[in-house]
Amino acid sequence: MEQFSSKEIQERIHAYIGALDYVREPKGLYDPIEYVLAMGGKRLRPVLLLMAYNLFKDDVESVYPQAAAIETYHNFTLLHDDLMDKADLRRGKPTVHKKWDENTAILSGDAMLILAYRFMMQECPLQYVHEVMDVFTRTALEVCEGQQWDMEFEKRMDVTVPEYIEMIRLKTSVLLAGALQIGAILGGASQEDAKKLYDFGIRSGLAFQLQDDYLDVYGDPAVFGKKIGGDILCNKKTFMLITALKEADGDTRAELERWITAGTYDPSEKIAAVTAIYNKVGVRDICREQIGRYYEEGIALMEQVSVETSRKKNLLDFVLSLMDRNL
Ligand code: IPE
Ligand code: IPE
Ligand code: MG
Ligand code: MG
Ligand code: MG
Repeated sequence: MEQFSSKEIQERIHAYIGALDYVREPKGLYDPIEYVLAMGGKRLRPVLLLMAYNLFKDDVESVYPQAAAIETYHNFTLLHDDLMDKADLRRGKPTVHKKWDENTAILSGDAMLILAYRFMMQECPLQYVHEVMDVFTRTALEVCEGQQWDMEFEKRMDVTVPEYIEMIRLKTSVLLAGALQIGAILGGASQEDAKKLYDFGIRSGLAFQLQDDYLDVYGDPAVFGKKIGGDILCNKKTFMLITALKEADGDTRAELERWITAGTYDPSEKIAAVTAIYNKVGVRDICREQIGRYYEEGIALMEQVSVETSRKKNLLDFVLSLMDRNL
């Protein structure tokens, strides 16, 4: 039995994605795709797909196209997400709509979504193709639903924690969960094990997005690769903002509401003021505790998957390494 560490798998899929041959004319469509796919990132979703597969089978290279599909889909969502979130920086580099223009981000994004479907079907064993495409399509649509809630919540002041959790389940968790489920299906896992891995992905995905929101405020800009405070400027209803609105009282709450409703302001002043309120109210610790709880729930589900404990060690180590990530 051959077991790969997350690092080995990440290196392999990174090389595979780098060598993909899909570029043709017009360059204006494909260059931005190459740009975003080549700049890396953590490759979290393909790594999860391949590690889930590797729980059951050794020949991980046989599902590289499906792993590349998940990463291409993820990168497509980033092109459109950065447009929607007015984000200028990703992975330490200018976003596609900044380096090229908005139309490029839309159309190159569309092409990536289509390429993702092509890769997902490429060499997919016939016996699994229907099930795999079913999971992928449901997941891809749910991400759109989550993204729409995310945008609608920007304009609302009464978003609750359960509403936020459902929003991040859709925009982020289902893709991690779907990657794990697809890896399990292709590995020939039982329905029960595939479902356990899916649920593990949902819990880990909630933790992962909470962490992303946390790092958007408290991350190190040099490491995180995105502009700190972007969520604060967009009035994103993150767990931290919702918690601050709930916990703050009197003048603090009034000040927070003033910043959220302000029409004109100095961006760095708003970021500093809202962060100061978060610090005062103690949302930092509340958020960290919640992240830990979701990861632990996820790990407990993963431990129930019916393969030998030794086979699950690499996946467990990988999740543990995500727990204190700073990028
Ligand atoms: C960014 O995903 C979008 C979120 C769901 C938070 P990642 O943090 O996985 O981004 P990359 O691919 O590693 O850059
Ligand atoms: C990411 O949410 C969700 C998707 C890309 C679908 P964010 O908007 O928080 O992701 P980042 O912070 O821009 O990577
Ligand atoms: Mg967003
Ligand atoms: Mg964003
Ligand atoms: Mg974010």
